[in-house]
Amino acid sequence: MDSKSIRQVDSVYDVVIVGAGISGINAAYRIQEKLPNLTYAILEGRERFGGTWDLFRYPGIRSDTDLHSFGFSWFPWVEKRAIADGASIVRYLRSAAEKEGIDRHVQFKRSVLSANWISAEQSWSLMVETDSGESVEYQARFLILGSGYYDYKEPLEPQIPGLGNFRGQVIHPQQWPEQLDYADKEVVIIGSGATAITLLPNLANKAKQVTMLQRSPTYILSIDNNTGNSWFHRILPQLWSFKLSRWGFIWTTAIIFWLCRAFPNAARSRLQRWVAEQLPAHVPVDPHFTPLYRPWDQRVCFSPNGDFFKAIREDNARLVTDHVSTMNENAIVLSSGNQLKADIIVTATGLKLKVGGRIHFKVDGEPVELSDKIAWRTAMLSDVPNLAFMIGYVNASWTLGADTAAHLICRLLQHMQKKGKTSAVPRSPNYIQQRPMWDLDATYAKKAQKTMPKCGDSGPWKGRTNYFYDLWCAKNGNITAGLEFSAGENDKF
Ligand SMILES: Cc1cc2nc3c(=O)[nH]c(=O)nc-3n(C[C@H](O)[C@H](O)[C@H](O)COP(=O)(O)OP(=O)(O)OC[C@H]3O[C@@H](n4cnc5c(N)ncnc54)[C@H](O)[C@@H]3O)c2cc1C
Ligand SMILES: *[C@@H]1O[C@H](CO)[C@@H](O)[C@H](O)[C@H]1NC(C)=O
Ligand SMILES: *[C@@H]1O[C@H](CO)[C@@H](O)[C@H](O)[C@H]1NC(C)=O
Ligand SMILES: *[C@@H]1O[C@H](CO)[C@@H](O)[C@H](O)[C@H]1NC(C)=O
Ligand SMILES: *[C@@H]1O[C@H](CO)[C@@H](O)[C@H](O)[C@H]1NC(C)=O
Repeated sequence: MDSKSIRQVDSVYDVVIVGAGISGINAAYRIQEKLPNLTYAILEGRERFGGTWDLFRYPGIRSDTDLHSFGFSWFPWVEKRAIADGASIVRYLRSAAEKEGIDRHVQFKRSVLSANWISAEQSWSLMVETDSGESVEYQARFLILGSGYYDYKEPLEPQIPGLGNFRGQVIHPQQWPEQLDYADKEVVIIGSGATAITLLPNLANKAKQVTMLQRSPTYILSIDNNTGNSWFHRILPQLWSFKLSRWGFIWTTAIIFWLCRAFPNAARSRLQRWVAEQLPAHVPVDPHFTPLYRPWDQRVCFSPNGDFFKAIREDNARLVTDHVSTMNENAIVLSSGNQLKADIIVTATGLKLKVGGRIHFKVDGEPVELSDKIAWRTAMLSDVPNLAFMIGYVNASWTLGADTAAHLICRLLQHMQKKGKTSAVPRSPNYIQQRPMWDLDATYAKKAQKTMPKCGDSGPWKGRTNYFYDLWCAKNGNITAGLEFSAGENDKF
């Protein structure tokens, strides 16, 4: 799209944030807080707040981390439960945005299709599709992506041999049909991640039979869903006790992660002992709960109040560890020769990872492939000026990582404002050794490595370490190392 031919500039902003999910709302808050005199807009393709939590509608959709640390540090999650359902999370996000006046900056049904950095103007030209289907141009001096990390439009195509033979319904959790009637049906969930573990107990409420078919097992930890009843909640003011809960969860998660990596064998047997205590006699730990990897080499899944195990103890929910050999009209044929009859198959095999919200990026007309780039402090990309992405943690609450990035970018903008600079572009040296951005080896995450930007091995190119250190660096680290600045003719920040 040639931006020179369409000069109908709809709107000009200092900062445009793409996406009104957790990361976009949080970035907006930090901009308002740290750079109150910048103009900004949030462009959101959907018609509601919430991103992931509005998109996913499968039965039981819930968080897999505690809301005390998944929620914003500036808008306390005060409900007495750590794990919350999707609708409650959307409500919480909307309230947070409304309280801070962020909602007034959101433009819904605005999908950013392309973004072209124009050096001569020191700004981004964005092509944005509106609800009526027309394209309008926006200009932004700085672009912040809160567009998440997976493809919203295309779920991951499951690789299931013989799937074409199956005559029943095949459902992807990302596109759960509102009217799907699974009452008294036989449902097979393929997968072993957080989604499968959430779905099993929830589908079992109505379905005749639910089978979770896993290729390889996962670590599952039951957690107490009720919070807010500790002694400190009774004696401290609400804000204080909220802060304590939050830090409690942040530290516990970090310590568990560290223990798992430092003492994998002890962690493995502890996790398996907990599982064994909750299983009925006919379900053995081996092979169903003996992952091939060490705890936290992949995400450990949580089961609030042990709902997963409660379901497994009933007759209509079961776990099968086997491989799909092929499928016929109404059943899955397993490598063992057994067959699983199914009316509905749910493919909970992961997401199609993608950063950048399907936006076509260009720098002065030259197409840019984000996945070829090296990330500067896990927030900007080599050779792409004035573009930041808000990516969270995968082994702690996402929001903590997104907030680290927001702090960093606000500090960068303050620096540019002070020095009268109009752009900042990371320039990575060519001796950098590339590393994956996420250190997890779930099958879909590994496969998707090539679609993700990379990290380096030293200096500002190094990936994240942990929240405490990363936040310190965002607030105090060297903000100019690895960046090249310019000062154009245009207004300064
Ligand atoms: C089922 C599921 C459960 C999860 N559970 C947890 C959990 O418990 N804890 C945790 O820490 N993480 C969890 N995650 C990861 C989760 O996605 C993040 O924690 C968080 O919701 C991401 O927020 P976000 O704002 O970065 O992205 P998203 O929630 O994905 O929001 C992105 C927004 O950007 C919009 N957008 C994208 N592209 C464009 C475009 N081109 N133009 C305009 N708008 C655009 C989208 O419409 C969307 O609203 C889960 C993920 C899934 C899929
Ligand atoms: C915005 O605020 C900064 C300091 O906080 C100031 O230096 C700058 O001139 C202001 N810009 C405008 C356009 O008001
Ligand atoms: C968690 O607890 C809350 C309140 O106690 C409850 O409403 C909710 O259903 C529970 N969620 C799960 C998944 O157990
Ligand atoms: C998350 O993973 C990184 C990389 O493996 C690790 O260094 C870090 O300590 C982990 N963070 C937390 C909060 O556990
Ligand atoms: C930051 O790094 C740059 C380049 O490496 C260096 O020139 C500069 O002195 C550093 N600034 C501070 C405050 O350490």
